[in-house]
Amino acid sequence: MKEKTAFVCQNCGAHSPKWMGRCPSCGEWETLIEEIEEDAGTEFAFPPSEPVLYEKIKQAEKKRIHTGIEELNRVLGGGVVLGSVVLIGGEPGIGKSTLLLQVSRDFSTQGEKVLYVSGEESLEQLKLRGERLGIQKGNLYLLAETNLERIIAHAEKLSPQVFILDSVQTVFSSKLSSSPGTISQVREVTNQIFRFAKGNMISAFLIGHITKDGSLAGPKSLEHMVDCVLYFEGERDHSHRVVRALKNRFGPVSELAIFEMTGQGLQGVSNPSAFFLKERPTNEAGSAVVCTIKGSRPLLAEVQALVSSTLFAGNPRRMTIGCDHFRASMLMAIVEKKLGFSFAGEDVYLNVAGGLSIDEPATDMGILVAVVSSLKNKAVSSDLAVFGEVGLSGEIRSVGHPVMRVKEASSLGFQTVILPKGNISHLEKEDISGINLIGVQNVKDVIDTIF
Ligand code: TYD
Ligand code: MG
Repeated sequence: MKEKTAFVCQNCGAHSPKWMGRCPSCGEWETLIEEIEEDAGTEFAFPPSEPVLYEKIKQAEKKRIHTGIEELNRVLGGGVVLGSVVLIGGEPGIGKSTLLLQVSRDFSTQGEKVLYVSGEESLEQLKLRGERLGIQKGNLYLLAETNLERIIAHAEKLSPQVFILDSVQTVFSSKLSSSPGTISQVREVTNQIFRFAKGNMISAFLIGHITKDGSLAGPKSLEHMVDCVLYFEGERDHSHRVVRALKNRFGPVSELAIFEMTGQGLQGVSNPSAFFLKERPTNEAGSAVVCTIKGSRPLLAEVQALVSSTLFAGNPRRMTIGCDHFRASMLMAIVEKKLGFSFAGEDVYLNVAGGLSIDEPATDMGILVAVVSSLKNKAVSSDLAVFGEVGLSGEIRSVGHPVMRVKEASSLGFQTVILPKGNISHLEKEDISGINLIGVQNVKDVIDTIF
């Protein structure tokens, strides 16, 4: 049954009975979105609420169930909370269906009842993938269906503990006349699943496709509607995949899960530092290893720089992949001012190996060392790692978690770590032996020590 709907401008709120390219009220283009008209009488449909005194509120204990995949549990904050809705976004082909089928497998063998709904693939295709993932008998139900009302009716009858929808873009509600995948539809789908999950204490996972710029109809506009948003990242040409939390009402957002796509689905990478450093060149100029922190874990990343004379006199290129462009430019300016080098006639390319991205100030020193190494065409010793924030006056500032960083470098066999002098005192009380620590105060110290 179609409900009464109207097209509402997302910019000014004007209503219109039919879709228009341009809002007649505010003049903005493509802002009209179909929404269900709420009846004036529906306020009685909501359960009555009551203000409660703060101290009378009992602390809710969140029940979590473990997904069976350790990396994913960590990103979720220790398993998935019962009655929560998790949105998993990512580009097509990156492994979303694979991951959630693995999750279904693990839940169902733990005894949880799972309903996996696919609007994209047939049951036979799912079974084929299931064979690869080694799914055996268990409490796993599959449903190939695209009509939301029918899906919910099935789910109500089956009453699973875990509900998976693959994907929000392929399913439609018959309450709206818009086609599947439009903003109105994906919102309505998410909204109905959200109410269903909360009302029945079911953990729901929604898959959403996004394009490279993350803008295609959907997941971005759903982020505020769900409890947890996970993004799948990685290059199709690399075998590793990173899942990170962008929002989590029940856990941290800084955690990363690192997987490798294998012939039997996604496998957690237990030693990410070793994984990302395994193809590092030795004795090549322009490569530096930096100790960074991702969530609660230390990670060693290789920063690569290529400085080469430019063909664009007066406007040389500055390209970065995996680190902030402005931060890199700032570091180059500091090198020029404090060390007297010049990048004026040079193109500078920066890359973080393995498709990783580094985003904390503690990685400044890695960028600095890689750039200077390439400029001077001198290799950095391959058993040296660095970390530290670089200030605008060229000073090296101390950073958080120095112990974790040094221990990670030490466990991977690095002999020397160059770090902020201010951090050295934190390390004196620690039991770190067999690694040479060099505290530095400014960029000149760094360069003099290394080269
Ligand atoms: P898929 O989960 O279908 O991606 P999405 O749902 O995000 O669109 O994964 C697609 C890719 O993963 C596909 O190219 C095949 C590959 N793959 C493996 O390499 N190993 C496996 O065990 C499976 C199931 C898939
Ligand atoms: Mg898929």
